[in-house]
This record gives sequence, C-alpha cells and structure tokens, in this order.
Amino acid sequence: MNVHEDIARVLIDEDVIRFRIDEMAPEIINSLEGAPIVVVALLKGALVFTADLFRRLPVRLDVECINVASYHGGTESSGEVQFLDKKLPDVAGKNVLLVDDILDTGRTLQAVSEAMLGQGASMVRTCVLLAKDKERDGMQEADYVGFSIDDEFVVGYGLDYKGKYRNLPYVGVLDPSVI
Ligand code: IMP
Ligand code: MG
Repeated sequence: MNVHEDIARVLIDEDVIRFRIDEMAPEIINSLEGAPIVVVALLKGALVFTADLFRRLPVRLDVECINVASYHGGTESSGEVQFLDKKLPDVAGKNVLLVDDILDTGRTLQAVSEAMLGQGASMVRTCVLLAKDKERDGMQEADYVGFSIDDEFVVGYGLDYKGKYRNLPYVGVLDPSVI
C-alpha cells in the first residue's frame, strides 16, 4: 500500500531538487527577457517540476499546459509523440519556456518546440529536471538541465510508471519486482 515500499533506491532527494531549482531559476529568467513570457508545461510529467520552478521566476508570465504522450504505459519511449489536445496554446510573439520532466530520446522536446515555433513563438527555451546520459542522434538537447542521470527508468516528482508514483517527493528507481 505504501508507495515508498516499491522504491529500490532514492536517486535525487527533495532537498537536492529544491536547491538545484533555486540555482537554475535566475539563469532561466535572464534568457527569457525581451517579449511576453509563457511557461508551457508538458503534462502530466512536468506538473510537479513546473509548479516548483515557476514559483522561482519572479516576473510577469503566463502558464499553459500541453498534453503529450510518448511512453504509452511502458518503460521505453514508443518513439512517437502524440498531441492529445484539440488546440495548442496561443504563443504567437511570445518567449516560450518549455518545461518537461525528463529528456530521453529528445523526440518530445523536438516535436513540441517545432509546434510552438509553428504557432509563431518568438523564441523557445527548453528546460528539463532530468536528462538521461545517452546519445540522442541529432535530436534536441535541452537548454537547461537540472540533473544528468544514467540511462535507467526513474519515477517520482512527476514521473510515472503506468500512471503511478508521480506523487513521490523525490526521484527514485523502482524495485524490479514492481515492473
Ligand atoms: P523522449 O521523447 O524520448 O525524450 O521522452 C520524454 C518523455 O518520456 C518524458 O516526457 C517522460 O514522460 C517520458 N520518460 C522518459 N524517461 C522516463 C523515465 O525514466 N521515467 C518516466 N517517464 C519517462
Ligand atoms: Mg512526459
């Protein structure tokens, strides 16, 4: 029943995440000046990270959400990014900060960045809490990365396995018996 029992090991503790976000925020703000700012969260994974990050950005900004799916319930990226919303947010003429939980193959950030530019965004900056240390053959890297991690499946702080574990306050590795 207790969700912590399914975690084999904690990778990044909540205090460490908080500290890192405080460090990242000023740099991110500086890069966004010059046009109206809109923070775009990729749901559901970026829910927690966005909530913590954008409260550290003390400037006038809008926030929007986009629903995308790429994992379809497993522990490997399906390789196909699906847009689940009927309509994309209005970002024309704005500086967009695209926020996701984790960079894996890079396809999600690439597809959504292109979509935002297609909507007329003046500029797109990308930010992820985590980036898996791997080759992303030509795919997009993120402008801002909280932590670089080994190429393994992680949950918590917004990241899920089959929809669960998003509510863990830390990033951890699931016990193999759960998968
Ligand atoms: P990419 O498009 O391959 O870069 O995958 C990024 C998306 O896959 C993220 O938005 C996450 O939703 C999901 N994802 C990638 N790696 C993990 C993981 O280790 N745990 C949970 N979700 C992940
Ligand atoms: Mg995601």
